[in-house]
Amino acid sequence: MRNLNEDTITQAVIERFSRTPDPRLKEIMTSLVQHLHAFAREVRLTEEEWFKGIQYLTDTGHMCSDTRQEFILLSDTLGLSMLTVAMNNDKPAGCTEPTVFGPFFLEQAPEYQLGDDVANGAKGEPCLVSGTVKGLGGEPIPNALINVWQADADGNYDVQYEHLAHPQARGILHADAQGRFHFKTILAEAYPIPSDGPVGAMLKATKNHPWRPAHLHFMIEAPGYERLITHVFRDHDQYLDSDVVFGVRSTLIADWVKQADGSYSLTYDFVLNPEK
Ligand code: BEZ
Ligand code: FE
Repeated sequence: MRNLNEDTITQAVIERFSRTPDPRLKEIMTSLVQHLHAFAREVRLTEEEWFKGIQYLTDTGHMCSDTRQEFILLSDTLGLSMLTVAMNNDKPAGCTEPTVFGPFFLEQAPEYQLGDDVANGAKGEPCLVSGTVKGLGGEPIPNALINVWQADADGNYDVQYEHLAHPQARGILHADAQGRFHFKTILAEAYPIPSDGPVGAMLKATKNHPWRPAHLHFMIEAPGYERLITHVFRDHDQYLDSDVVFGVRSTLIADWVKQADGSYSLTYDFVLNPEK
């Protein structure tokens, strides 16, 4: 393999990976090389631009920490996260649709009883959330495990604060024997994704805003059913049609009703897909 040129190098690289024993890895490497080279040819990538790209990825890596995942933000804002969700979750009609996971989930959330306040001191208007978890056949799913998390009224998740004594606006609950749940929390508000890093710079350079429409995150699990990772969005939010991470689905938009006392209520019924 000598004297490779623009026309012969792609095939030479693909051949270099041709002995990869894992067939899936081989498929991915081959396709990656093909598309990466095609991209460079299509835009006639200059050496300066190549170096800028390397610097951009380096900066993205440097921005990452235990509580900041800039690569996930990059994937989200390029639509890759939502594309992957869409390709891998072909659920039957009637199931609750999934959307992006986002970077702010915590494995170790506090456990709550039904009716508790998961806000745990987070700033925001009070909100009562209730609903049911059922299977596609309409059967209630007793004891379904419900993980919820959200940003506060200032648009921050608890993990974005440096010195918080305990988790806020997130928790784990179990549905009751009839698949019903209810808990107190705060009203979800629109918020900008972290934009003080390379992803923010990319959004600015491309004249895009960093906002997500108001939403509450849910992850719902029950034996015999596919895990559901989704949000419930607030109707009438100004960012529903320009979500910076392309995550909005019409079926996930609900009415968060203002009560006479100024608090809010949200009711949403989830439908899980039975495992095959
Ligand atoms: C979120 O909704 O928490 C989120 C999703 C993608 C990027 C940033 C935040
Ligand atoms: Fe979020």
